[in-house]
Amino acid sequence: MTRWDDIAETGSRERELLEQLQPEALPTHVALIMDGNGRWAKRRGLARIEGHRAGIKAVRRTIKLAGRLGLQVITLYAFSTENWKRPALEVRTLWGLLKEFIDSDLDSFVQQNLRMRTIGDTSRLDPSVRRYLKRAVQATEKCTGMLVQIALNYSGRHELTRMLKTAVTEARQGKLDVGVIDEDWINAHLDTAEAPDPDLLIRTSGEQRISNFLLWQLAYSELYFTPVLWPDFDEKNFLEALLAFQERERRFGGLLEDPAAPSESSA
Ligand code: IPE
Ligand code: IPE
Ligand code: MG
Repeated sequence: MTRWDDIAETGSRERELLEQLQPEALPTHVALIMDGNGRWAKRRGLARIEGHRAGIKAVRRTIKLAGRLGLQVITLYAFSTENWKRPALEVRTLWGLLKEFIDSDLDSFVQQNLRMRTIGDTSRLDPSVRRYLKRAVQATEKCTGMLVQIALNYSGRHELTRMLKTAVTEARQGKLDVGVIDEDWINAHLDTAEAPDPDLLIRTSGEQRISNFLLWQLAYSELYFTPVLWPDFDEKNFLEALLAFQERERRFGGLLEDPAAPSESSA
């Protein structure tokens, strides 16, 4: 009997990977750029929409494993402010799939004790989508397990622009003293105010860019890129990313060893 017994089947590759995972070296917050749905579909001669549909299954298994491993936050980039440039049918289908996902998975979210919230400017979304989101957020607000942040109509620049506008407006109205603005204040006024910065960013599909995701929050995140297309991203791929993270040396601009401690040569 080992600590991961309830997660993987005996003898599976997943278990092999789990055995190497050190619980104390797990990230607190993992952010994911779920990319490659269109290419996944194209390779199969299917419409792009089918790639998005298949991507939902990857969302489900990723959230489930993250919750079971005990991560505190997972943030999923589901729709960027730039994604409105796509064909109307694809855009409509994406919002339709989000509603279907809420219908099919909300009960399971509650069972898994997962709290859902959104980041991004949801005020611009279709009222029916907003109603679904409100239902999901309210149904899970008392859940005390992992926080699942879904980025919808989100971009980092847009988030920073909205924050700045609010700050300037409040300052003009005399409600905000500009002297209080520091990094903590900014953190507390971004959409991600409830979450610590991501420790690990995973992007699928082989692209190696940030695409306007969490520009402020990713300052010291470890970046992990995998060629796997999002609909194929499975538990093993996720565990491989976590194992890669566990090998990274995070320095945050400092030194790994304590400079005050006497070094071996000076002892
Ligand atoms: C990611 O897959 C999903 C969204 C952006 C909504 P893409 O649709 O970007 O897939 P590719 O990059 O075209 O393969
Ligand atoms: C990023 O993927 C946005 C989401 C995954 C929602 P894109 O496919 O939109 O990004 P680019 O266009 O390749 O940079
Ligand atoms: Mg893409």
